[in-house]
Amino acid sequence: MPPLADRFGRTFPYLRLSVTDVCNFRCSYCLPNGWQPTGTERFLTGAEILRLVRAFAGLGTWKIRLTGGEPSVRRDLTEIIRTTAAVPGIRRIALTTNGYRLAERAESWFDAGLQAINVSIDSLDRARFRLITGHDRLVEVLAGVEACRRLGFSAVKINTVLLRGLNGDAVDDFIDFVADRDLSLRFIELMRTRDNADYFADQHLPAHRVIDRLTARGWHPLPRVEGAGPAQEFMHPDSRGRIGIIAPYAKDFCASCNRLRVSARGLLHLCLFGSGGHDLRPLLQDDTQIGALQTTLTNLLTLKRDRHYQAEGDFGTLPSLAATGG
Ligand code: GTP
Ligand code: 5AD
Ligand code: SF4
Repeated sequence: MPPLADRFGRTFPYLRLSVTDVCNFRCSYCLPNGWQPTGTERFLTGAEILRLVRAFAGLGTWKIRLTGGEPSVRRDLTEIIRTTAAVPGIRRIALTTNGYRLAERAESWFDAGLQAINVSIDSLDRARFRLITGHDRLVEVLAGVEACRRLGFSAVKINTVLLRGLNGDAVDDFIDFVADRDLSLRFIELMRTRDNADYFADQHLPAHRVIDRLTARGWHPLPRVEGAGPAQEFMHPDSRGRIGIIAPYAKDFCASCNRLRVSARGLLHLCLFGSGGHDLRPLLQDDTQIGALQTTLTNLLTLKRDRHYQAEGDFGTLPSLAATGG
C-alpha cells in the first residue's frame, strides 16, 4: 500500500499512540482535580496495539511515540515497548512521561527497545513543581532524567509548559540547567482546552517572550530540519544543551505536521486540536483485518485539514490533552 498522505502533500511517518488516559499527576493546566474514572475505561489491549502498529508500519509509519495520560501506569508498558519495537518497519520507539517512575524503570524500558524519552518538568523549584503537578517529586524526576542520560538514549528531552505566574520568571534557570547537559529542553506554549479557559487567560505566556530572552542571552535559532517535529530549536555556543520552542499558535505551525494520533480508546485524531475522533477499534479485533484497517486509514486521511481549529478561533472542542494523548 502507498504511504499515508493527506491532500496537502504531508506524509505521516510518526504516530502518537496513547496507551492510557489515567494519570497520577494533577497538573494545574491539564487535570487540576486529578484523573477521574468515568466507568468507560477499556483501553486498547496489548494485542490491539500491536495490530494497530503493524497496520501503520505497512503504511510508512516508522516512529511511534507512546503517550498517555501517564503511560507508566500501565503494568504492561515494558511489554508494549518490546512488541512494538519488534514490528518490521518500526525504527524508533519514543515515550512521553511525567517521570514519576522514570528512575526505577528507565533501564528496563531501554532494554526493551525504547530509544527516546521526553519528560515533563515545568519547574526546577521543588515547591513550585509540587504546586503545578500536585506531587513533591522533582528530585526523583530529575534522578530519572540523569538515569536516561547515563543509559544512552538517543534523545532525552524536557518539556516545560510556559506558565506566566509559575515559571515565566524562571527562564534563566532552565537555560542554566541545560548549559552542561546534552539534552533538549522545549518550552511549550500553553494550549487552551475545553476545561482550562480561565486558567489559560490567567497563565498563557506567549512564546515570543521567551524567544526575546534567549536572543538577549546570545541564543541563535537553528535552521528547521524537515520532519523534525513541532519545535523551533535554538543553540548557544557555550551550552551543551539545546532549547526548543513549541508554539502551536504560530502562523506556520501546521505546515510541517507529520503526525497522527490514536487515543487509548482507539480513536484516530487527525489533529491534536481536532474534536471527535474516528473509532478504529472494530478493525483491531483480528489479525485478518489489517487490510480493511489500512484502507480505512488511507480514506480518513483525506479529511485532514491544513491547519488546526483554534487557528480559526474555535476554542470549544479540545479536551484535556490527557484524554487524547497529550
Ligand atoms: P518529538 O518530536 O518526537 O520529540 O515529539 P514531540 O515533541 O511532539 O512530543 P511530546 O510528547 O514531548 O510533545 C510536546 C508537545 O508538542 C506537546 O504539548 C504536544 O501536545 C505537542 N504536539 C505534539 N504533536 C503535536 C501535533 O500534532 N499538533 C500540535 N498542535 N501539537 C503537538
Ligand atoms: N498546553 C500545552 N502543553 C500541554 N501538555 C499537557 N497539556 C498541555 C496544554 N494544555 C504537555 C505536557 C507534556 C506534553 C506531552 O504536553 O506537559 O509535557
Ligand atoms: Fe498527567 Fe501529563 Fe496531564 Fe500532567 S500534563 S496531569 S502529567 S497527563
